[in-house]
Amino acid sequence: MSALPTRVPPEEIARQREFARRASELLRDRFGETPLAFVHSYGCQQNVADGERISGMLAEMGFGFTDEPEKADLILFNTCAVRGHAEDRVLGNVGALKGLKRARPGVILGLCGCMVQQESVADRIRQHFPFVDLLFGTHVIHCLPELLCRLLEGGKRVFERPDAAGVIAEGLPVRRDSVFKGWLPVMYGCNNFCTYCIVPYVRGRERSRDPGDVLREAREMVAAGFKDITLLGQNVNSYGRGADHGVDFAGLLRRVNDIEGDFRIRFMTSHPRDCTLDLLDAMRDCEKVCGHLHLPFQSGSDRVLKAMNRHYDRARYLELIAAARERMPGISLTSDVIVGFPGETREDFEQTLSLIREVKFTSLFTFIYSPREGTPAARMPDPVSHEEKTRWMAELLAAQEAVAAERTAATIGRTFRVLCEESHDDGTLFGRTDGNVGIVFDGGKEAVGQFLDVRVTDAKHWILTGEIVAPQTK
Ligand code: SAH
Ligand code: SF4
Ligand code: F3S
Repeated sequence: MSALPTRVPPEEIARQREFARRASELLRDRFGETPLAFVHSYGCQQNVADGERISGMLAEMGFGFTDEPEKADLILFNTCAVRGHAEDRVLGNVGALKGLKRARPGVILGLCGCMVQQESVADRIRQHFPFVDLLFGTHVIHCLPELLCRLLEGGKRVFERPDAAGVIAEGLPVRRDSVFKGWLPVMYGCNNFCTYCIVPYVRGRERSRDPGDVLREAREMVAAGFKDITLLGQNVNSYGRGADHGVDFAGLLRRVNDIEGDFRIRFMTSHPRDCTLDLLDAMRDCEKVCGHLHLPFQSGSDRVLKAMNRHYDRARYLELIAAARERMPGISLTSDVIVGFPGETREDFEQTLSLIREVKFTSLFTFIYSPREGTPAARMPDPVSHEEKTRWMAELLAAQEAVAAERTAATIGRTFRVLCEESHDDGTLFGRTDGNVGIVFDGGKEAVGQFLDVRVTDAKHWILTGEIVAPQTK
């Protein structure tokens, strides 16, 4: 596999645009003036960001979009492989489309994303889901116009999932799901090979976009009115590693912060191994960067961390938390944690419990370990029963709930700058503070997409209730 980042040559992107033109004619012949697409992305924000590029290409091919698969001419699931549950959901949903395909054989059913990048899964789909017409992996997203032409002209199923180190495709059209909150990928892939994780196998090697490309896209988003921009990567802290432009993630953050406009910057995910003091300094210095750090610790036990191949220990993690709080006393900390890694003992688990009590995270994403075929952890002895792991999980959630209740209660009476994200039929609005805490308050739907000052009046677990104190602040 190539060690160099592979940028798709502009000529190839131009060639795909030609295919898009051809596809739009073929689609019009088959489905009429405006064919409809249903695109659903599972999994993490990286997948959602890919889905927005896929939708961008589909829009260029003349597709309109629908939320109802029954009405769609193309149904595409952009899949996730991170846990068994994610895969089961996709397979269940694909299986449910069998009847629809029988009733309307012309509809195109497609699968893409991380799950189908795995050879064993692609083989299974080929054999057991004969009604799936199109399958493509994570490294050929930019070839969608060509793949659709091949399907429409050839009539045969098209399966394309080359094993590759991965590419960077610039210049693809993007159709974003929101007009004010947007994802901005800065790097792709992962080199960490945590022993439980499938991501490096399905997303290829770590590769960073050029800072010029990232900044151009960020400027376009700000000019289009985006208020909340999240810089994305499986391990954003290693942004720029191996490249010759000399911009690391802290440097990139400072440059995005220099773009003029009233917007917020978030980023995820940070790996504790590569989280530098420079990055924490940049967060402190950059007024647009939110006071929120998502720093997955996965386990509080050094023994388990070593078996996970995480390259830090509990003490190092706590040092980073202290360094972050020293620079930004009000910082909101969130994390991911895995319960029941193979060989994890009750004692190990208690170390995890004590870590969450010590750090007092704002919120946690909690997962029971799920074996992933082909990863080292899937071959490790795993004596603890699923029932026992489920009990540990319940204990962990109860401990976190107590921490969160204490934290949120302490915010009653305080006023936060909130970006309003949704309006509901009962006249309430939902927004997020700079620390990414959800808050519900009364107000009209014209507030959606705006910053508001909201005072917290009540708090329950991790959701706050509040009232608007001022329509908008700078
Ligand atoms: N790159 C990010 C997260 C990627 S996946 C990081 O390193 O933090 C998101 C989360 O899913 C991980 O942080 C981990 O907590 C969880 N996860 C990944 N593989 C898993 C598995 N096999 N079983 C259970 N949880 C898993
Ligand atoms: Fe998976 Fe670890 Fe890479 Fe995150 S850093 S994507 S958990 S291998
Ligand atoms: Fe899932 Fe792929 Fe993201 S496996 S979590 S969609 S990188």
